[in-house]
Amino acid sequence: MFDFDTIYDRRTPGDVKYEPISGTTDVIPMWVADMDFKTAPCVETAVNAVAAKGIYGYQSVDEAYLDAVRSWYSRRFAFEIQDEWILPSPAVMYSVACAIRALTDEGDTVLIFEPVYYPFEGVILHNRRQLVISDLVNHNGLFTIDFDDLESKIKKDHVKAVLFCSPHNPVGRVWTRQELERFAEICLNNGVKIISDEIHSDLVFAPNRHIPVAALSEEVAANTVTCVAPTKTFNLASIEASEVIIPDPAIRRAVQKEMIANCRYGINSFAVAATKAVYNDGEAWLDELLNYLDESRTILSQAFPEDGLIRVNQPQGTYLAWFDCRRLGLSDKLLYNRFLLDGGMRLHKGSTFGKSGEGFMRLNFACPHSVLQEAVDRIKRIIKDR
Ligand SMILES: Cc1ncc(COP(=O)(O)O)c(C=O)c1O
Repeated sequence: MFDFDTIYDRRTPGDVKYEPISGTTDVIPMWVADMDFKTAPCVETAVNAVAAKGIYGYQSVDEAYLDAVRSWYSRRFAFEIQDEWILPSPAVMYSVACAIRALTDEGDTVLIFEPVYYPFEGVILHNRRQLVISDLVNHNGLFTIDFDDLESKIKKDHVKAVLFCSPHNPVGRVWTRQELERFAEICLNNGVKIISDEIHSDLVFAPNRHIPVAALSEEVAANTVTCVAPTKTFNLASIEASEVIIPDPAIRRAVQKEMIANCRYGINSFAVAATKAVYNDGEAWLDELLNYLDESRTILSQAFPEDGLIRVNQPQGTYLAWFDCRRLGLSDKLLYNRFLLDGGMRLHKGSTFGKSGEGFMRLNFACPHSVLQEAVDRIKRIIKDR
């Protein structure tokens, strides 16, 4: 019913994913995490209606916005939230920064699991907190948390908060209830707050199921700030719409205070309209998108089997594949250049996501299947010509 096969020309000025790279032509951009598909038709209708008004004055969120957000989390994740828990925010990483400042003091330590979305390191360090890294453990492409390492680092380094990524970018894990419970229990037992970035929560492949960490229990909810958004799911990054969900009133006030201190709270009129549209009317489009991306996952896993020189994990969630290129024996820089200059593909270097990402490459597969097939052929040529 919806079209994910059309190739659109995105090469307009300032389109980040398609920015030209000097000395290259015919590059397939598979790096930045946005999609090459048009968003759900309900968004275009809603945003066009706002544009047609021609008056773009200050905007607040209304009852219908809160209903749409609350109902989405109830329907999709059985996560029952209350209106007052929801703070609209222009971006997930902005919410994360405010939460870090609200929950910790300068010099405090914040833990992350690497490899992870690269701005995580920066948001901690730029806010003058100390960084503690616990590396995920790689079991043949399935990454897990090292709970002993987590607990010992929390104690040794006096960790105050964990910045958690669920589902996890770049390794594609959708954490199980058991994993989440163990993680949340360690945090609770040691007085560690959880900042859970769940921007990829809608992009999960069956039979995996995303469980919001705050949905585990009332106690965990009171210890957690959940940062979510419709932007990854519905390809709305530049519309700037997201939500922070904070059940605990004191934490909520503290995060709100940080937003006020930055003179940035609330979202614009296009973001309000788009959020209502997708949460009320975007479900059928999302279900079809997930089927399409599931087929893309299969294209990749069939093309790069476990015993090959380049192996790919089977992401349980996200549209990001984590290619293990260590058998090629190339440094990250050479690997990146091999993909870009010889292969004609722009991917993200694994080491961008932390030291433990060395030898890996992240590929964004949210593109038409014909483009993905061309990328597969190009990667195979890289292996053959090596
Ligand atoms: C885990 C994660 N968090 C946050 C973001 C960015 O969100 P925002 O643009 O709303 O700050 C991304 C984008 O790729 C992401 O992967």
